[in-house]
Amino acid sequence: MIGIVGGTHILEIEVLSDVKEVQIETPYGRAEVDIGRIDGIDVAIIQRHGKRKDKPPHRINHAANFFALKTLGVRYTIGMGSVGCLREEYELPSLIIPDDYIDFFSGITVFNDSLVHVTPGFDEYLRGVLLDTAKDISSFPVIEKGVYFQTKGPRLETRAEIAMIKNFADCVGMTAGSEATVARELGMSYAVICTMDNYAHGIKNEVVDYREIVMRARENAEECLKIVSEAVKRIWHEKFLKT
Ligand code: HPA
Repeated sequence: MIGIVGGTHILEIEVLSDVKEVQIETPYGRAEVDIGRIDGIDVAIIQRHGKRKDKPPHRINHAANFFALKTLGVRYTIGMGSVGCLREEYELPSLIIPDDYIDFFSGITVFNDSLVHVTPGFDEYLRGVLLDTAKDISSFPVIEKGVYFQTKGPRLETRAEIAMIKNFADCVGMTAGSEATVARELGMSYAVICTMDNYAHGIKNEVVDYREIVMRARENAEECLKIVSEAVKRIWHEKFLKT
């Protein structure tokens, strides 16, 4: 089974067939998972903001989500996200497949009661699959790598914060760093593909408005899901059929 963790709009698009909704109890709390198929391949999908859209970024239970996926036998998980763009020169909308992240603020870990220090990062195999797939079929420009800066949210960033972080990162979001960390801690593979839906606050001379971001993220989610669905097929063929 392959995992997908998506943002607000993933379940507005009919992606799975034979869907079964399950609630999984984990040592970290309960997770809601949709199990179904994409082109006959078993997939488990988590909507990180909750099916009732009631979990803002700082309250997402990433540990429960990834532990639940692990319980289901998932080894490979693809994240889908929406990010703000920190590069004035990039055209929007575009897709970015970050190759590293900065997350100073979340303090996320599954290791609250033991001394374990993982070396974090996105999974290079999954990143490669996402990249090749996006290059093959995306109708949006594809940014092949970059640093994802994770803020705590839920508020957007100040101009001063963006002026600082743009020196170190290419896009800004609120979830993918935490997901990468817990996935690594649980011994799972994870990489993320993000739609760049807006220029971050102060990058261009325009007001950043949450409702506008949501509208654009909704418009762009379908393109992202097209790539993720194809990547799922490629992972299945490479990792499950060949072995
Ligand atoms: N900032 C943080 N997270 C985001 C943004 C942003 O500008 N756009 C989409 N997710």
